[in-house]
Amino acid sequence: MTGPHGLDRGLTNYGDRDFARFLRRSFARSMGLSTALLSQPVIGIASTPSDFNNCHRGVDELVEAVSRGVLAAGALPRVFPTISLGEVFLNPTSMMYRNLMAMDTEEMIGAQPMDAVVLVGGCDKTVPAQLMGAASANLPAIQLVTGPMSTGRHRGQRLGACTDCRGFWGKYRAGSVGSDEIEAVEGRLSVTAGTCAVMGTASTMACLAEALGMSLPGTAAIPAVHADRLRAGEEAGRAAVRLLQTGITPAQVITPHSVENAMRVLMAIGGSTNAVVHLAAIAGRLGIRVGWDRMNAISDETPVLVDLKPVGEGYMEDFHTAGGMGAVLRELRPLLHLDTVDVEGRTLAERLDEPLEWVDRAVIRPFADPVSPVGGLIGLTGTLAPDGAVFKRAAATPALFETEGRAVVFTGLEDLAARIDDPDLDVVPGDVLVLQNAGPHAAGMPEAGYLPIPKKLAQAGVRDMVRISDARMSGTAFGSIVLHVAPEAAIGGPLAAVRNGDRIRLSVASKRIDLLVDPAEISRRLAGHTPPPAPARGYKALYRRTVTQAPEGCDFDFLAGEPR
Ligand code: FES
Repeated sequence: MTGPHGLDRGLTNYGDRDFARFLRRSFARSMGLSTALLSQPVIGIASTPSDFNNCHRGVDELVEAVSRGVLAAGALPRVFPTISLGEVFLNPTSMMYRNLMAMDTEEMIGAQPMDAVVLVGGCDKTVPAQLMGAASANLPAIQLVTGPMSTGRHRGQRLGACTDCRGFWGKYRAGSVGSDEIEAVEGRLSVTAGTCAVMGTASTMACLAEALGMSLPGTAAIPAVHADRLRAGEEAGRAAVRLLQTGITPAQVITPHSVENAMRVLMAIGGSTNAVVHLAAIAGRLGIRVGWDRMNAISDETPVLVDLKPVGEGYMEDFHTAGGMGAVLRELRPLLHLDTVDVEGRTLAERLDEPLEWVDRAVIRPFADPVSPVGGLIGLTGTLAPDGAVFKRAAATPALFETEGRAVVFTGLEDLAARIDDPDLDVVPGDVLVLQNAGPHAAGMPEAGYLPIPKKLAQAGVRDMVRISDARMSGTAFGSIVLHVAPEAAIGGPLAAVRNGDRIRLSVASKRIDLLVDPAEISRRLAGHTPPPAPARGYKALYRRTVTQAPEGCDFDFLAGEPR
């Protein structure tokens, strides 16, 4: 390392550098540290436990393991907190706070004296936030995820959050599961520390962090409560110290090629729609953009290989024992950019040249015998979404891929809640449910895109309908759902022009979503559009003023671009 390192980095401004160094070391000694340790390089450990984040229940133990690895490798670990985002404990939605956590992470990495950092996170928004912050801080960094939950059991059936949450809730709404059983299921869905047990957003982002090269190989899917998770923590600590020799920074790891690799992995694992937004935000921090055409080309040539819920049958614990990301990457090898470099300084080619012990082909299928011949997600464009929308074809009903139907419009989240189960709602099977004003500006883009099937249709046996919104959907959800419509309704996108009874056409084959209304009439309707009032103060005012649309990652406009 050249220049100041360890505790001598970034001295506090007193106008006297020697005094600042003297004062810092004096205060550091109050922590009981020896002068020998105070002279070592410093590895920061961004720690995110919170009593409002069940998914991070194991973070303290994991951080201890990282510290052990750092110490064993001859550096000084310094644990520091950042905010923590527990998906189901945040109002109005965790998405609104992802950028706040990214700013917290970036600024604390930059402001405190550390030579490298290990980022410990897991729940949906935390890994994207940490990667965004680390990309902008551009200090050597390693992502360490908390790992997924293990499954529970209910009357002989395996249960895992949160695809099974939705499955059982759907049955409860339809009346086939009673209140006693739903209460029993409530206690059996989330039974350990860790992130959701399926290939939801957290698991998807864990896999993408490894595909990008920001996590150590083989660590994405180790269950949260497995002893290997702690060993991965210790190794991350050692690896962070090795990073001091190579000096590899996130900008050398997150490149156009590694972002494309991550996009391809997203398709192959049948990953979460949310990852499209998060990957755009992470890549955007380094000025990298993947357009809809490129994403769709990648999707069309990449099969779904992983048979996990919500697309298939298994759970993340199965994925780990089946071979994990190492097996997926080897199947995809002919399609990957092999020149990318990971945090260990190895190219992807070097990693994949190593033999793999065993692969469970029931969970991770061979390229020639995939779960689905094409990728899990596609982008849609058309008169309803000129700047794009996302559709998870792997979790949708193929019979609805080519649909033309009558719009049933809900003007916002309150309207949806008030009317979706109204017995007098004018809705029939084959209609298209439309939710407006749930995009980033209007509502922080909550996971409200998984509109419930109207109760009277659910009770009549309807299991899926085309549903369209500018909202997001949980990565654990499923259905024929068009999400992230851009521009969103609140800023005058065509979605705001949809009226009850309009015809809408979805075509997965041509990757289009169209409002079948005369363009002049759409313009006439939008001419009277007024955006909702903006919050007057605080973080929410900043959010509203600067958040970008979904295709740009919903980052703040002043955070994207070049790193420090
Ligand atoms: Fe934290 Fe699902 S709620 S990962």
